[in-house]
Amino acid sequence: MADTQPQLNDAVASNERERLHTRCCYCLFKTVWIILVLIIILVMVVILVLYIVIQPRSFKFHVTEATLSQFNYTANDNTLRYNLVLNFTARNPNKKLNFYYDQVVAHVSYDGVTFASADVITWMTSFRQYEKNTDPMSGVFSGHHVMALDINDFEQDKRSGVFHIDVSLNFETRYRLGNFIFGDTKPRVHCGLQVPFGSNGLTLIAFRPTQCLVDF
Ligand SMILES: *[C@@H]1O[C@H](CO)[C@@H](O)[C@H](O)[C@H]1NC(C)=O
Ligand SMILES: *[C@@H]1O[C@H](CO)[C@@H](O)[C@H](O)[C@H]1NC(C)=O
Repeated sequence: MADTQPQLNDAVASNERERLHTRCCYCLFKTVWIILVLIIILVMVVILVLYIVIQPRSFKFHVTEATLSQFNYTANDNTLRYNLVLNFTARNPNKKLNFYYDQVVAHVSYDGVTFASADVITWMTSFRQYEKNTDPMSGVFSGHHVMALDINDFEQDKRSGVFHIDVSLNFETRYRLGNFIFGDTKPRVHCGLQVPFGSNGLTLIAFRPTQCLVDF
């Protein structure tokens, strides 16, 4: 009896220590957790406030002019001969945000087939667009492409004097806010055009400026 008592006391003391230790761990864990949640909330509030102050918006893109001086498909060699000049405008609607247009490549397709591509903006012509500015760009597509076309559809479009040509553009842009440059993005732009072409090369119908879809 005399020597079992201290053993019992030891066991009680060690149990107590363990309980304290667990409680402490729990306290620490809880504190870290609360701090983490506060930091996350703070970051979200800062992002929200910045978003409201800056109000970032994507650029607007239009095709202002389309000049089709050749669009000739010959069925015997399945060749489309084309000469198309497209004039675009890009507008920055933002009050504070600037854009960098680093690279723009345009692809034109007819009847679901891409027949030509052209550089619109290269590293040599890349530029910074300031807030509320509109800048012109253009693409020149000239040459020939071997492709399968439904000649009846083509002849019908030719008679109507309007060709439906789709343009898709791949952008490489960055943003600038003050001296801070960020956000390498690759927006895609799509334009569905009705391009007039007269049988004698003279356009009978005027091209209607077309707004494009900008997919940021
Ligand atoms: C189309 O191409 C053919 C063959 O090159 C040519 O004979 C014809 O004159 C061209 N037509 C037009 C409208 O350019
Ligand atoms: C359209 O683009 C072409 C080719 O870059 C250019 O020569 C022409 O001046 C442009 N037209 C207008 C109205 O900007």
